[in-house]
Amino acid sequence: MRVVSGIQPTGNLHLGNYLGAIRNWVRMQDEMEEGNRAQAAEGGSADRNDCLFFLADLHAISQPHNPAELASATLEMTAALVACGIDPNRSILFNQAQVPAHAELQWLLNGTARMGWLNRMTQWKDKAGKNREGQSVALFTYPVLQAADVLLYQATHVPVGEDQKQHLELARDIAQKFNNDFCSEDAPVFTLPEPIVPPEAARIMSLRDGSAKMSKSDPSDMSRINLSDDADEIMKKVKKAKTDPEPLPSEAAGLEGRPEALNLVGIYCALTGKTTDDVLGEFGGQGFGVFKPALGEVLVETVSPITARFRELKADREALDTILARGAARARELGLPTLGKAYKALGLVRG
Ligand code: TYM
Repeated sequence: MRVVSGIQPTGNLHLGNYLGAIRNWVRMQDEMEEGNRAQAAEGGSADRNDCLFFLADLHAISQPHNPAELASATLEMTAALVACGIDPNRSILFNQAQVPAHAELQWLLNGTARMGWLNRMTQWKDKAGKNREGQSVALFTYPVLQAADVLLYQATHVPVGEDQKQHLELARDIAQKFNNDFCSEDAPVFTLPEPIVPPEAARIMSLRDGSAKMSKSDPSDMSRINLSDDADEIMKKVKKAKTDPEPLPSEAAGLEGRPEALNLVGIYCALTGKTTDDVLGEFGGQGFGVFKPALGEVLVETVSPITARFRELKADREALDTILARGAARARELGLPTLGKAYKALGLVRG
């Protein structure tokens, strides 16, 4: 098994990233480690399980950005991932810009990806809005780079939130067309990756609007819980979260048409591992005046230890540089064979 996933180092790591993706990364890292140990105990196997997690800094330049901020956000996001439980000794943690094969493979895949496929991407449509002509080419071809990110390493599993599923489906289409067009049936260059979307927290919504996803790019900091927020900030944000005037229902069907209530209950479930029925059994009939402090408490319980580690780690610039350099060296090595095969399949002469 090969697990690969990435995150853009823009803004803060927030609860949506954590529950939708990073928590799954940590879970998969731990499972892979167990698998490797079991294999070793049985006498070893050539097929090691590997997890690769990266800062998608190349993706971050697809929209207007401040170079100095991008550099510090890349290091901060590295610290945040380690604080969440990504262990650089067990997973390969790196940033894209230190592994040129991502950009190289993207160019090779640009010959296979179709304009019509990219035109259908909902993220492109949402971000470009009515001003398509004014967008960078990088924003349009962004999903091809994302395909290169996972195909380069023969990823089998890609843990992501719901919003990235369409990009992963595109990666599969690109891989399939490339294999069909340029490879013999018994020697495909690329593995088709499987998106892994958590059923319970695939889409965490904004605290200010239950119909918009929680996002780093929302101008209001009150719309999200950052993993760097302290207990007071978390309690304040939960208290101010938008709700409706009704008490919580006793059954899940009663959450229909109440997006803000649904979101808060969903967050509570994802944090505690309880089902919606359990939570409504406990809080049904009660107002948000009772539910919000309870939610705030479980949030603080999850976020505080992460924040404490994050603050320590982000102060150690040298350690972060070392983590990224080591991760990049390992990623470069793992990606080279596939990149070589892709060049060869296309008939490109490299001496
Ligand atoms: P990004 O940086 O927007 O988000 C990182 C991860 O967090 C998930 N996520 C959410 N999940 C649930 N609820 C939310 N509100 C929420 N907001 C974000 C995302 O689904 C994602 O898994 N294009 C990607 C980065 C990327 C990538 C890749 C991912 C680049 N190359 C290759 C996987 C494989 C992005 O911008 O994610």
